[in-house]
Amino acid sequence: MSAIRQHLIDPEVCIRCNTCEENCPIDGAITHNEDNYVVNVELCNYCMNCVAPCPTGAIDHWRMVSTPYSLEEQFEWDELPDETEVATTESGLANASHEALEDEANEILDVAHQGQQGKVLPPFSAAHPFINIYTRENPAIATVAGNYRITSEDSESDIHHIVLDFGTTAFPVLEGQSIGVIPPGKDARGKAHNVRLYSVASPRDGERPNHNNLSLTVKRVVFEEDGVVKKGVGSNYVCDLKKGDQVQVTGAFGSTFLMPNHPEANIMMICTGTGSAPFRAMTERRRRKRQPGDKGKMMLFFGARTKGDLPYFGPLNKLPDSLIRKELCFSREADQPKEYVQDRILKCADDVAAWLKDDQTFIYLCGLKGMELGVEEAFAKTCRDHGLDWPALRNKMRESGRYHVETY
Ligand code: FAD
Ligand code: A2P
Repeated sequence: MSAIRQHLIDPEVCIRCNTCEENCPIDGAITHNEDNYVVNVELCNYCMNCVAPCPTGAIDHWRMVSTPYSLEEQFEWDELPDETEVATTESGLANASHEALEDEANEILDVAHQGQQGKVLPPFSAAHPFINIYTRENPAIATVAGNYRITSEDSESDIHHIVLDFGTTAFPVLEGQSIGVIPPGKDARGKAHNVRLYSVASPRDGERPNHNNLSLTVKRVVFEEDGVVKKGVGSNYVCDLKKGDQVQVTGAFGSTFLMPNHPEANIMMICTGTGSAPFRAMTERRRRKRQPGDKGKMMLFFGARTKGDLPYFGPLNKLPDSLIRKELCFSREADQPKEYVQDRILKCADDVAAWLKDDQTFIYLCGLKGMELGVEEAFAKTCRDHGLDWPALRNKMRESGRYHVETY
């Protein structure tokens, strides 16, 4: 049976001010009796109009359920039920509707998270993500606020930083989530193009703080078929966007590859190429929120062909070591031996082992599918050499929301 993410109101916190019901555009989606304010799962369209105005936050509660709570049950509650039921799909991908569960984007995300194996949980302190608010049938329309190449002019990798502005449309995202872009036009079979997923590269409060915008890091895909050079549909559409163009966006997607919110968490990020996008978002979030004395560390292993191919090379180098330790490695720099992220992990094995021994460590892998195996092997060897059992540790970390893989 499919699971859904049900919107609920916390009766212990709700002050019965009626703000949610007043702001709800759908008659009957939020209602009340003499005891409780409740959400009708059949009518709520997850527009989120009720969430921001709620003075207490009682409105912002969600449960993964296979059988939704009825209005009658909610009217009876003195407190919210425990989170006992979880999604029957891969990773507890939270979804707004049964239809949305079958959405192509979630299937793509399932594949992207396969490397993690087993049941996936978000970090315990992660913020609640909003998922699948916008669908192919009801996409958000974003306006391109900027499109900049972020790899050097002579580099073969054409990677762009694209800023999308959502104007007055609410499009909440968290670091680590992805959005779907619907390329215009039809494929060779005359069907509308599939959605392409792109990781959000900016923090939750916007590419520019407190603006309703977000950024993407997109690599132009070009490949050869029967001796003919062809262009990837989605990436070329996005990389060619001009300022002022309008884009159909779905999502957001992803409810597990999220950053911990507590400042004691150590965040280890391992990526290649555009896999750096979610890590730009997480790093910037930390940079903006950092307080003197915060204990949590960040470490980034980042692999690219050359310096010129490494997205955000300039700004990344400007980040202070006190915020993030950068381990940049290159596979095709002249006069330098080829180095992959897994080679660098092995070179830093003593420090990596110390991180692995710390229960505050959260690990994230993003980028090429091919790197998963190499990184796994590097962790396994590091563990063997430092008296740790990698398979057991990996399971423990996964089960506590501390090991995350997203590869494509
Ligand atoms: P497509 O047209 O879909 O082609 C993709 C590939 O398929 C080609 O490279 C080629 O190898 C092959 N192919 C297609 N047609 C043919 C053919 N006729 N013959 C032979 N081979 C063919 N990408 C980013 O750049 N940045 C991101 O932040 C990012 N985040 C992602 C997050 C997630 C969770 C996932 C799942 C993917 C992410 N991607 C990201 C990848 C992105 O979604 C697209 O897959 C990528 O941009 C390629 O799409 P495309 O439409 O340009 O290429
Ligand atoms: P390579 O020089 O072998 O292609 P890309 O530019 O294609 O997005 O790749 C980003 C980086 O990831 C490149 O340095 C690339 O090296 C490297 N890479 C390729 N395969 C793997 C792998 N199996 N494990 C780790 N890194 C890899």
